[in-house]
Amino acid sequence: MIETLATVESNRELAPGYRLLTLDLKEDVKVSPGQFAMLKAHASIEPLLRRALAVYRVHGPRRLSFLYQVLGRGTEALSQVEEEGAVEALLPLGNSWPIEGSAGQRAIVVAGGIGSASVLMLCEELSASHVDVQLFFGAASEHAAACCRLEDFRTLGLPLALTTDDGSLGERGFVTAPLERHLRDGGGEGAAIYACGPWAMMRAVAEIAAQFEVRCLVSLEAPMGCGFGVCVGCVVAVKTGGPLGYDSYKRVCTDGSIFPAEKIRWEVNAMTQ
Ligand SMILES: Cc1cc2nc3c(=O)[nH]c(=O)nc-3n(C[C@H](O)[C@H](O)[C@H](O)COP(=O)(O)OP(=O)(O)OC[C@H]3O[C@@H](n4cnc5c(N)ncnc54)[C@H](O)[C@@H]3O)c2cc1C
Ligand code: FES
Repeated sequence: MIETLATVESNRELAPGYRLLTLDLKEDVKVSPGQFAMLKAHASIEPLLRRALAVYRVHGPRRLSFLYQVLGRGTEALSQVEEEGAVEALLPLGNSWPIEGSAGQRAIVVAGGIGSASVLMLCEELSASHVDVQLFFGAASEHAAACCRLEDFRTLGLPLALTTDDGSLGERGFVTAPLERHLRDGGGEGAAIYACGPWAMMRAVAEIAAQFEVRCLVSLEAPMGCGFGVCVGCVVAVKTGGPLGYDSYKRVCTDGSIFPAEKIRWEVNAMTQ
């Protein structure tokens, strides 16, 4: 893990509210698919804390890009950083999507909205490892799908099931509908599901995976304070196998952000997400 003052190579607006940030880190890092960074616009005092963003692409040992949605003060401040500006970066953080040993197997990747940022490199690596990948991509609208870089996923040439909430592109409805059909048709046999997206989507994916007895991994997007295990601000309740009603907690930043879906106490965490 390094803490560095990175230089902004570009911070391109893809559409209002969505940006692609490319950083020159000045130090080498080795990033695996699914890992994230804590970033903060150096020039802005507020907010004090860095924000978590998944590493979208690795262009070289010092050159990474991040796909982000401008939601609140942290990402707003980031969106204001111009070329040659400075970004405080702590990375790489968290665990990564487990890929080893999956050669010749099947993978089902589910990307919901800006959750796509966590799974592009996963898709690339699975394909390179000769895994048979089926991609499910869901977004609110055609516009949102474009902002979440559907084109980058299309370039991979993977079988793709596409849904939008408003039906402006692909099938109308949630991405869980074609996923469920796929599993019902036997598509889950020998497969692992990798999912990243809104909490409700991941919970639904976890339930469907359990129903069809398919291994499922989810990358959780808990609000984070430090990003490296100290503040305990990112905990989620997990199953322990202990007495009913007793929960254990895991830190999303250091124990995750990727967890086996069946370990998460979805109903408990739903109250805090
Ligand atoms: C491991 C990890 C990886 C992430 N990767 C990405 C990424 O690649 N791209 C990206 O755009 N975001 C990503 N996020 C989410 C991002 O860190 C949060 O959205 C962050 O809180 C934004 O900071 P902010 O200061 O702009 O907004 P905040 O001030 O924190 O929040 C602004 C508003 O957005 C809402 N909000 C906060 N977090 C979320 C969320 N996760 N989903 C929906 N609404 C939310 C809040 O309730 C509030 O209304 C990731 C989060 C984690 C934990
Ligand atoms: S964000 Fe501080 S412990 Fe996880």
